[in-house]
Amino acid sequence: QPHNLIDRFGRRIEYLRLSVTDRCDLRCSYCLPKGFRGFEEPDHWLRFDEIERLVALFARFGVSRVRLTGGEPLLRSGLAVLAGRLTAIPGVADLSLSTNGTQLAKHAQALERAGVGRINVSLDSLQRERLARITGRDCLDEVMAGLHAAREAGLRPIKINMVLMQGINDDEVDAMVAFCMAHGFVLRLIEIMPVGDTGRTSAYVDLQPVRRRLQERFGLIDGVQPGGGPARYLRNHDGSFALGFITPLSQHFCETCNRLRVGVDGTLYTCLGEEGGVSLRPLLRDKAPDEVLEAAIRSALDSKPARHEFREKPRKVMRFMAMTGG
Ligand code: GTP
Ligand code: 5AD
Ligand code: SF4
Repeated sequence: QPHNLIDRFGRRIEYLRLSVTDRCDLRCSYCLPKGFRGFEEPDHWLRFDEIERLVALFARFGVSRVRLTGGEPLLRSGLAVLAGRLTAIPGVADLSLSTNGTQLAKHAQALERAGVGRINVSLDSLQRERLARITGRDCLDEVMAGLHAAREAGLRPIKINMVLMQGINDDEVDAMVAFCMAHGFVLRLIEIMPVGDTGRTSAYVDLQPVRRRLQERFGLIDGVQPGGGPARYLRNHDGSFALGFITPLSQHFCETCNRLRVGVDGTLYTCLGEEGGVSLRPLLRDKAPDEVLEAAIRSALDSKPARHEFREKPRKVMRFMAMTGG
């Protein structure tokens, strides 16, 4: 079908990650530097009608899954309203959210009603002081309340994202597994990526040995790999617990990449490992015809690299994660 988005390597794009704000109420050490001020001006953020038009266009090209990210997406006011508008778009079968959880208690019900399904919540430690050190402030109670509210609201599945850092939280994996098992959360362990000048890779932990150890310790078996995401899963025997590994450095998943990203300012990024992208904002703001937008998207897609180069060129991406939402 001429409408599909397929890149030079035959990868079909069916998933769009959209950053709706670059602001965040936390300063996770691997994402935003403390005291960071260089945020995008609100006037440069895509407006809801622009986002809606863009998603509708992508949906016509075969994108069926959309993930809202940030920064912290729940800091964008009216986010649940936007979510409702996006789930109403024909072709959008799955709208998901990646959040730090601090504002989730307030918004969980509205998000569920707006049709948001899957949510991923970052939580790097269960220890109050440690979490405060990683995120820049004491937020454990807020995140816990958010997780509870999300479950009560019926959002499912709820996934916990834990970026593993040597000497910082790598002794807490077993505790996190136990916590997620007990509460019915999916856990994903993530290798830290060198993005922004937070790319201090001294904290990097190779997840391959961690995976082997956990598989043994908790008696886990290979699980299904839903939806072409980056995580590779193990599960327990009755299927009540799933443990995912996101290993961009030790075993990258670029051959099966199915996604594009749009930054808060409307920049289309073809790969997390690329510094720059193509700005769609001027076209959206000037109400350029669909054909013009389509041509810009297809020409950007032609430059999607085969894979990232985080290992070979760890200082290549200086933009902060909050621009693209990971
Ligand atoms: P689902 O599989 O749809 O639940 O989501 P996800 O795992 O793609 O999304 P999430 O926002 O929870 O991201 C988890 C981690 O995966 C983050 O550290 C992301 O930066 C990373 N990630 C997501 N997509 C990609 C990708 O295309 N390439 C790389 N290298 N990392 C990615
Ligand atoms: N490396 C790996 N994961 C990161 N995230 C943010 N920055 C990085 C990084 N440098 C993760 C967050 C969140 C997800 C959306 O992206 O932990 O869970
Ligand atoms: Fe795809 Fe780039 Fe992510 Fe690799 S790093 S999976 S090529 S977006």
